[in-house]
Amino acid sequence: MKIDFRGKSIISISDLSKTEMLHILKHAEDLKKKPQPKMLSGKIMASCFFEPSTRTRLSFETAMERLGGQVMGFADGKVSSAKKGETTWDSMKIIGQYADVIAMRHSLEGAARRASEATNKPVLNGGDGANQHPTQTLLDLFTIKECQKKINGLHIAVAGDLKYGRTTHSLTQALAKFNIRLYFVAPDELQMPKYIQEELKKAGVKFSLHDKIENIVNKVDILYMTRIQAERFADQMEYDRVKNAFVLTPSMLIKAKPNMRVMHPLPRVNEITPAVDQTKHAYYFEQAENGLYTRQALLGLVLGKLK
Ligand code: CP
Repeated sequence: MKIDFRGKSIISISDLSKTEMLHILKHAEDLKKKPQPKMLSGKIMASCFFEPSTRTRLSFETAMERLGGQVMGFADGKVSSAKKGETTWDSMKIIGQYADVIAMRHSLEGAARRASEATNKPVLNGGDGANQHPTQTLLDLFTIKECQKKINGLHIAVAGDLKYGRTTHSLTQALAKFNIRLYFVAPDELQMPKYIQEELKKAGVKFSLHDKIENIVNKVDILYMTRIQAERFADQMEYDRVKNAFVLTPSMLIKAKPNMRVMHPLPRVNEITPAVDQTKHAYYFEQAENGLYTRQALLGLVLGKLK
C-alpha cells in the first residue's frame, strides 16, 4: 500500500491503519534524532484553539516553528468571531484561505470533522470534546514504543476517566490494531464506553474491567493514568463523588515490573502525587516532549515535505 498523507486531515485515529501509524512514528523518530530546521520554510499553520490547552497548542506551534514554518491563530475562541456567533464551518473556510494547515481544538464533538469539510487545507484535530485526540495518541504510541522498544505483546492498563477522557478513546482504538492486552481501571460510572468495548470484542482484543490499580499493577508494562475531566460533568455532585477515585502514590508501585512505565497525557490534577515523579516508573514528562516530534512528523507529511 502506498502511503501518501499530502493534504490529508487527521481527525480520528480510526481513520489511520496500523501501517500508517507506524509510518508517522518512524518519521517522528527520525526528527527526534535529526532536526530539520528548514523543512517547512514558507508554510503557515493556523493554530485555532477554542478550548484551553498547554501541551497540544504549544507543541504544535513549536513543531511548526522548529521546522522553519510560521504560526498564526488564537488560544481562546472568545477572541475569535465565534464569540459573535460565527459557525465553525464559516471560520474554518476562511482560515483555510490564509493558512497551509490548521491545528485545532474545540469543545464540540465532531467540530474537527466539520472543519475538514469546510476547507481544502489539512486539519489536524487537537481534541474535539470527549470524542478524539488522535495526535495525542500518536505521541502516546511513539512513547510506548520508545520506552518498551515495542508495542506488540505489551500489557497496558488505562486508568481514570475512561468515559469522558478522549485520549483514552483514541489510544484504545489505536492499540486495538496491535497484539496487546488491555486493563481498564475506573469507577463503574466512568468505565470505557460500551461502543468501544464492542469494537474491542469484534477485533478480538483481550480486555478486562477493574476498579483498583493495585489489582493489576504487577501485570502491566504501561500504566496510562488520566485526569477526571471536571469540565465534562453535567452534575457537580457526580464529579465530587469520583474526583479522588484514583491517586497514584509510590507505595502503589512496589509490585510493578522494574520496567513498567507510568504515562499520563497531562495535565494532572491530583491523580499522580509528585513523589511518583522521582520513581523510575515515571515517563509522563518524556511523553509530553515527544508531542513535539510527532506533530513535526504530521506537519511534514500532510504538507508533502515528508514521504
Ligand atoms: N495532553 C493534552 O492534550 O494537554 P493539553 O490539554 O495541555 O493540550
